[in-house]
Amino acid sequence: MLNFDDEVTATATPVAVGMPRMGVGSSDAVDHGYTIASTSTGRIRVEDKRIINSSADVNQLVPFKYKWAWEKYLAGCANHWMPQEINMSADIALWKNPNGLTDDERRLVKRNLGFFTTADSLAANNIALGTYRHITNPECRQFLLRQAFEEAIHTHAYQYIVESLGLDEGEVFNMYHEVQSIRDKDEFLLPFIDVLTNPEFKTGTPENDQKLLRSLIVFACIMEGLFFYVGFVQILALGRQNKMTGAAEQYQYILRDESMHLNFGVDVINQIKLENPHLWTSAFREEIRGLFQKGVELEYRYAEDTMPRGVLGLNAGMFKEYLRFIANRRCQQIGVDILYQGATNPFPWMAEMIDLKKEKNFFETRVTEYQTGGALSWD
Ligand SMILES: [Fe+2]
Ligand SMILES: [Fe+2]
Repeated sequence: MLNFDDEVTATATPVAVGMPRMGVGSSDAVDHGYTIASTSTGRIRVEDKRIINSSADVNQLVPFKYKWAWEKYLAGCANHWMPQEINMSADIALWKNPNGLTDDERRLVKRNLGFFTTADSLAANNIALGTYRHITNPECRQFLLRQAFEEAIHTHAYQYIVESLGLDEGEVFNMYHEVQSIRDKDEFLLPFIDVLTNPEFKTGTPENDQKLLRSLIVFACIMEGLFFYVGFVQILALGRQNKMTGAAEQYQYILRDESMHLNFGVDVINQIKLENPHLWTSAFREEIRGLFQKGVELEYRYAEDTMPRGVLGLNAGMFKEYLRFIANRRCQQIGVDILYQGATNPFPWMAEMIDLKKEKNFFETRVTEYQTGGALSWD
């Protein structure tokens, strides 16, 4: 049984003669983890493991250094779900009924999906083509692999809702080109993703390490931690009024996954700060605060655009306060001064949505099934 409190001992035992060696290269070359195989053939020492710029072998998961990463990976697996297991028939009936939803509610649903259908593809590509390469720790990479699959499940969920409702796929999937408030959010994000997916980009200098840290903060705290939240509140508010309950259930599982992604991102960011304190300058922190401010403005404009007249008892003004509240929370999580003194949460019920354990719904049963399904019997 793995016990994280056990002291990890690692001895530098030489590799046996004749044993195939991977990655025997110049011991002078520091590859900062970019090559698949380690340049060192000695047994890895836990103290050599680092989130970025590590020379410890990325192929060896253990000994663990960051137990929070492994625990979040296990929690993600225990929460596994698939979109097609959720019954969409009530949503389909409501959508097809001409009196089922108002025009404003239909606009909200479509523009909501218009952002999310492509946002999670962006997220998956950012992880697989960018972030993964630069994070040189195998337990964090294990989580990122799980996270990438969860982003695929989320894209699947949005596609499944679009298909179930019989929406115009071309219209919804092209909103990130054609609807300005969605396009503006994506255009804000893209440069930070492009930095990491550029094949020429490598960490290892203070400037590039700051570029990576900046992109990680934008991705976890602004994209996953802020840009998703107007959309989550909207669909979950519909669900609370007994409308679009299948879609709301899908969003509830997505929200739970995303809060795990956010928390993992925050842990990674804080660990990088701890291991590289020279990156966390006051100028850098001010720049991050400016990005949060810009993120709040863009998300607020999206809220106005998706609900210009107020709908479901919600209005854009409530979202302004909510976004300020969330932005403060994200700043606190990574150790940046808050931006909006006194901001309060107008949607306290969202906290219960994030913590699904309080809910007595079918999901609890199904999680148990997945967990017991993992224990195979060979009899
Ligand atoms: Fe996602
Ligand atoms: Fe995510």
